[in-house]
Amino acid sequence: MILSIESSCDDSAIAITEIATKKLLFHKKISQELEHSVYGGVVPELAARLHAEALPKILEQVKEYFPKLKAVAVTSTPGLAVTLVEGVTMAKAIALSLDIPLIGVNHLIGHIYSLFIEKETQFPLTCLLVSGGHTQVMEVKSLTEIQTVAKSMDDSFGESFDKVAKMMGLGYPGGPAIQELAKGGDRLKHNFTVPLHQSPLIAFSYSGLKNAVRLAVLEEEKKETPNFQDIAASFEHIATKHLTMKLKKYFKTVRPSTFAIVGGASANLYLRSQIEELLKPHKAELLLSELKYCSDNAAMIGRVAIEMYEKEMFSSLEELISSPRSQL
Ligand code: KG4
Ligand code: ZN
Repeated sequence: MILSIESSCDDSAIAITEIATKKLLFHKKISQELEHSVYGGVVPELAARLHAEALPKILEQVKEYFPKLKAVAVTSTPGLAVTLVEGVTMAKAIALSLDIPLIGVNHLIGHIYSLFIEKETQFPLTCLLVSGGHTQVMEVKSLTEIQTVAKSMDDSFGESFDKVAKMMGLGYPGGPAIQELAKGGDRLKHNFTVPLHQSPLIAFSYSGLKNAVRLAVLEEEKKETPNFQDIAASFEHIATKHLTMKLKKYFKTVRPSTFAIVGGASANLYLRSQIEELLKPHKAELLLSELKYCSDNAAMIGRVAIEMYEKEMFSSLEELISSPRSQL
């Protein structure tokens, strides 16, 4: 079995996965959304302190598996340096005390493998990763052959939802709150410009749209009873249209046969429906993670770790970050 740990942002999670069967035997996640909500975003030092409390609590529940562990895996990059180090330190301590190998997992590869929890992998695929930290398109042939073909030049898709929600006083995370508010709104009411729509670049940008929304929010706030529904709906529509327009352009050169959406924001239902429409003419298959594994979790880290264990892709105790400073 492999014990895996995730602490790259605001979710403390631990999983136990059986190597031979890929079965997920245990998974527990403690989210910090409530604690960060008042600040409208993740406060790194607060997140680190909450991980330091939560991770040992979860670890206590998996002690029975310790004699059967063949390796310990941990998200080692990318993420917040001060929170990554909480998971990495715990993983190193386990590796050292049980004398088992340590596996440092890339969080983004983790999101790709969230598609394959308790399943076989299905490659090649074109993958859109939309999370709080990233917006990128990747061509994935295998664990070690992943090419990023487009990415955001500034804010990410999920981050733009968080920032727009903050403007509207909706708390954190913003994605689910905006999705809910947008349901009753008119998507065409606010004619926000689609980012980079005249640019030949296949890349993403959300800072301009965010600023346009800010102006609309300020205007609405002047009213006696402000109602942000239409702004939320129009924002969600344009944020999604930006993705589908760029993907449409990309598909002119690389036809998709299997396409996947992963990351926390892949839970967005409007995005899912628009991508489904986009794929129809290509008759491409759409792969999605189970809703509970879209956002950060340790099950996806454990799933990657199985592949890395089989290829003996181990890290030395010195290799992974050892102090928050080393990442600054
Ligand atoms: O993958 P994730 O849990 O963390 C990172 O690796 O960043 O993604 C979290 C992000 C947040 O920005 C959150 O607002 C966004 O995913 N998100 C959504 C939705 N659910 C979560 N964005 C849009 N629509 C949603 N339904
Ligand atoms: Zn993530």
